[in-house]
Amino acid sequence: MQHFFEPIQHDIEHILDDLDQHGFAIVRQAHSEKFTTQLLDECLSNLNQFREAAIQNGVISKIRSDHILWIDEKFPIAQQHIHLLQEFSQAFNRAFFLGIQSIEAHFACYNTGEFYALHRDNPQQKNDRMISAVYYLHPEWQSDWGGQLRLQDKNDQWHTIEPEPNRLVIFQSDLLHEVLSSKHQRLSITAWLRSGNSIWSSE
Ligand code: OGA
Ligand code: MN
Repeated sequence: MQHFFEPIQHDIEHILDDLDQHGFAIVRQAHSEKFTTQLLDECLSNLNQFREAAIQNGVISKIRSDHILWIDEKFPIAQQHIHLLQEFSQAFNRAFFLGIQSIEAHFACYNTGEFYALHRDNPQQKNDRMISAVYYLHPEWQSDWGGQLRLQDKNDQWHTIEPEPNRLVIFQSDLLHEVLSSKHQRLSITAWLRSGNSIWSSE
């Protein structure tokens, strides 16, 4: 796939090291400034299509209250983000033999008071999600706005991670985590790097 934007050089060795030692890694500046602006635009101009994440097949759950929109080829800027995650996946496969072969992703919007209670993205290896990757799109975040990601690492240590703009948090999908109630509109892309399904089904 073609790069539309100047790609950022990432310290992939550092990411692999953190994933290996702690089960998670934080990338502080995932994309160029120009890219973040365009991705935010793409997200905001489609906000009217977001749906309540808690409703799946007509069943309502109380575990989360955010709104989501699945990413497909109609979102060319978000596809570039998925392209970066594909490059990371190849490094993860080489380092950890994860067999990642597809990516699914959605935009998420948490409005004031919205949250996602404690959960795992892949409880008891029930699905083929190997790695979760959450990227924050909002242009600004202040620590008293809530909305932190709380994550238990692979050594059972808890971490409170601020959803800083342009930050990408990568973690094993079997780890326990939650999103604390947000006091401002919180915009993100959650992606799952999966070991099953068709090759790079998100392309
Ligand atoms: C998820 C999730 C964390 C975050 O979408 O499954 O846990 O920080 N997101 O948005
Ligand atoms: Mn999750």
